Amino acid sequence: MDTYLIKGGKKLNGSVTISGAKNAALPIIVASLLAEGTTVLHNVPNLKDIQTILKVIECLGASYEFNTEHNTLKIHVNSLKNAEVPYDLVKTMRASIYVMGPLLARCGEADVSLPGGCAIGERPVDIHLSGFEALGSTITIEHGYIKARVQKLQGNRFIMRKVSVGATANIMMAAVLADGQTILENCAMEPDVVDLGNFLIKMGAKIQGLGTERIIITGVKKLKPVTYSIIPDRIEAGTFLIAGAITRGNITINNVIPEHFQACINTLSEMGFVISGGDSSVTIEPSKKLQGSMIRTLPYPGFPTDLQAPIMALMCTIPGISVIIETIFENRYTHVGELRRMGADIEIEGNVAVVKGGKQLQAAPVLMSDLRAGASLVLAALAAKGQTEIRRIYHTDRGYENFEQKLQSLGADIQRVKGGKP
Ligand code: EPZ
Repeated sequence: MDTYLIKGGKKLNGSVTISGAKNAALPIIVASLLAEGTTVLHNVPNLKDIQTILKVIECLGASYEFNTEHNTLKIHVNSLKNAEVPYDLVKTMRASIYVMGPLLARCGEADVSLPGGCAIGERPVDIHLSGFEALGSTITIEHGYIKARVQKLQGNRFIMRKVSVGATANIMMAAVLADGQTILENCAMEPDVVDLGNFLIKMGAKIQGLGTERIIITGVKKLKPVTYSIIPDRIEAGTFLIAGAITRGNITINNVIPEHFQACINTLSEMGFVISGGDSSVTIEPSKKLQGSMIRTLPYPGFPTDLQAPIMALMCTIPGISVIIETIFENRYTHVGELRRMGADIEIEGNVAVVKGGKQLQAAPVLMSDLRAGASLVLAALAAKGQTEIRRIYHTDRGYENFEQKLQSLGADIQRVKGGKP
């Protein structure tokens, strides 16, 4: 298992180009199964999670060519088969459940391993399944597998009991080929869901209301393969802005859509950082007067849970008290124990974290427990005194393309040690 060695204390300076969005690319790759022919996707990040979803669609009969140098992915789809998606793939990546929507739409059956809990919470998939039932499917759980069956999906009205990115995407992928109209209420408004919707519309789907709480889908008979470019990754963008902030450097991120991470920009501004930018770039500079802040993680356009761990690392270095309320996942504070090992002063009470900031973080051996917790440790290490060793970096490999190379290009002293300690 690889590890990172990071010598902290260097101000990051310069500019970096943000990659395509992992959480948009995953459902869009799966949605390509909805049409026969060759789909071409640009701006696809070369990540572990993308490699995993490609294995999943291969199981179902698709083939692909991924030009990782140019981030272009060609997916070839002919007939689709409902092969069981093995537990090994689903447990590696929960987004494998996305194949249910297209499989039900095209084959009328889907057998997918039921994802278990994960490091950040229980993460049930009941809303996905109720949505498929609302469209006429019968669902059973047999020996750890979800088995969904339907003659032909029928449009219906479905109210999601909770805002869910995954359920909105999955049910939308099923409904585009259903008979009649589907009205989805309490939908996720995340840019990743909107990007999937725009891809489906380009394929010939009839969808209204993307980016709002109500999405109306009128089923069509067939979709066609298209060429499409994935939106930039707003969470990677936020992570690099925070890397600039935590090292009090001056960095510009390019190839971004600033409104997609406006909540993060607002929090950094409230803390006192100077943020400027154009249509597709954002620059962060430090200021002399910095202060703590308060955030509550919420569905989009609120502050994203995926930037909660990264911003907590920053809060540790800002004088004064900062408060975080995590409302999306019940166990998303696994980075706290590791940040404490680096000298952070953080109290947790239920879903509330109180950070007493202004501390000089110190290097310590630490472990990543999930993707964004991992990013938080990398950020903390960039600001810490001494050399931090971070283990289990396969977590950040899942979601940050060329992470260490991008940080090095900004002046960070970060090295990957191959085959390090587990
Ligand atoms: C997506 O996960 C992202 N993953 C997550 O990013 C992100 O943290 C999350 O949305 C929230 O923004 C992908 O897009 C692949 P949800 P998802 O369904 O779709 C509950 C990262 O680091 N819920 O919006 O699984 C659920 O437990 C990852 O890149 C149900 O109760 O999240 C959670 O509390 C991690 N039943 C809340 O809803 C369901 O059927 C929101 O989850 C579905 C969800």
